[in-house]
Amino acid sequence: MDGELTLRAHYWDDAKALAAFMDFIRKIHSIDFSSWESSGYWDDAYTPFSFFEGDSIVSSVCIYMLDAIVDGESRRLAQLSGVGTLENRRRKGFSRRLTEFGLEWAEGKHDGVFLFADAGAVPFYHRCGFTPMIEHVETVAAPSIAQRPGIVKLDPGRPRDLDKIYEYAERRTPISHRFSVMNPKLVVFHALHRLRDHAYEIPDLETIIFFERSLGRLTVFDIVGERVPQLAEFYPYIADAGDKVIGFHFHADKLGLDDSKVVPLFGNNPFVKGAFPVDDPVFPFTSKA
Ligand SMILES: CC(C)(COP(=O)(O)OP(=O)(O)OC[C@H]1O[C@@H](n2cnc3c(N)ncnc32)[C@H](O)[C@@H]1OP(=O)(O)O)[C@@H](O)C(=O)NCCC(=O)NCCS
Repeated sequence: MDGELTLRAHYWDDAKALAAFMDFIRKIHSIDFSSWESSGYWDDAYTPFSFFEGDSIVSSVCIYMLDAIVDGESRRLAQLSGVGTLENRRRKGFSRRLTEFGLEWAEGKHDGVFLFADAGAVPFYHRCGFTPMIEHVETVAAPSIAQRPGIVKLDPGRPRDLDKIYEYAERRTPISHRFSVMNPKLVVFHALHRLRDHAYEIPDLETIIFFERSLGRLTVFDIVGERVPQLAEFYPYIADAGDKVIGFHFHADKLGLDDSKVVPLFGNNPFVKGAFPVDDPVFPFTSKA
């Protein structure tokens, strides 16, 4: 059976193979990539390495090359993503081989490799020589102030709002001097999926902010604009009397915070391979593929 498999990479220009990939990701990860693709913001930097059997995929790995800023310097990072093997073909070494192919291709093109593992895949990454990391978030007590008007909810399902998010992301300034990722099309992906209902524009500040709140905790996922506004500038637009704590899913060094805390975040299972250029990272939420 395994002899009939064909290794294919870099095949986004083949519509049939792209459709097989979408189908595979839907089966393995229950994620529908088609809205990202049909929105026109699909990112070719998301590079597939797949074993095909006929027209369908048995096992696949993607390497997403990301432009990053680390301690103020430009860096390239390689994120492993979309890793999976059909259930009845597991434990035959397919994911390991594809991971090796992908990382060989990426060799010399990056300054660090990282990924986020589903809980069930943690033993696989250990077996393949990846090292677990502790992820962090930065938190601060919420100021007690009244909300001021001037925030506009965006609907990423509307092309006009999605284009706006992309334009802001393309012109954005790094969210942090310490660790930022600068892929505008990946911001669009998040806007279409997990952050679909959490996108807001503050026109006065020329900023887009992704946030949600639950049980007294305000979680800020990203702040996108040509300038990064300080907490004292943007919080009044999103303030709520029930907020107790604000958590930032990125290094918040540009927000002018007093007394912030960096606390471990569990559940996303980050792993790295070899040296990684950021110690104790707060992985930007919108860097996750
Ligand atoms: C995790 C997954 C990708 C592994 O794919 P696979 O093709 O079965 O992996 P391989 O056969 O290449 O395994 C490589 C090594 O990891 C080990 N391994 C794989 N899955 C394992 C598991 N669930 N528990 C323990 N070890 C595991 C294999 O035994 C092998 O070890 P060895 O080389 O020392 O013998 C696959 O189980 C899968 O698709 N899971 C569902 C989707 C998923 O979680 N994807 C990862 C998202 S981050």
